Amino acid sequence: MDSTDKYKSRSKILKQEGVVVWLTGLPGSGKSTLAGRLEDKLLEMNKLAYVLDGDAVRNGLNSDLGFSDADRNENIRRIAEVAAILKDASLITIVAFISPFIKMREFARTRAGDGNFIEVYIKASLETCIKRDPKGLYKKAISNQILQFTGITSAYEEPVNPDLVIDTDKLSVEDSAEILEKFVLKHLDKSKK
Ligand code: ADX
Repeated sequence: MDSTDKYKSRSKILKQEGVVVWLTGLPGSGKSTLAGRLEDKLLEMNKLAYVLDGDAVRNGLNSDLGFSDADRNENIRRIAEVAAILKDASLITIVAFISPFIKMREFARTRAGDGNFIEVYIKASLETCIKRDPKGLYKKAISNQILQFTGITSAYEEPVNPDLVIDTDKLSVEDSAEILEKFVLKHLDKSKK
């Protein structure tokens, strides 16, 4: 069997096509929450989904990396490769990293293959994220206790042409989760045909 046949066998066994759902946004924008909600929904539907989340991966695979631009690029490069592998295993791979740089998100799209990659911008204003501050990190960044913090002392490049934008400033968690689920399910439906 060549690699295409092997992929076909895997997707036949799992009864699903592999895809990478790439969530990007500021810290506190809602990426992890929405990734978890999407994963729950897909698992309930008997679809094999897996979340790669910044906080978890940085404790393991990428524990050697910090938050300089170069380290963030390496962080995302590795995750793009892992996501492409999981997609090739026919998993619905949900990625929740800040992934602040356009260049690396484009790299991730290229590795997954254009038709198998959904870029979702989890959009919230910096003001809202500072107010939410779920881990107290903005407070520390503003008082210089943390350096190179995204949105404060490190850049975030907004997506130019994302497949989906979810404005968590305006939408509830429920509504945001539903919009994301519907979009991904529609994509999965299309890729079946
Ligand atoms: S990325 O920029 O390289 O994509 P990633 O998503 O892996 O970032 O990690 C972000 C998480 O690391 C945040 O949710 C936060 O908990 C933690 N963190 C610690 N220091 C920083 C920092 N300087 N900037 C951003 N996030 C940080």
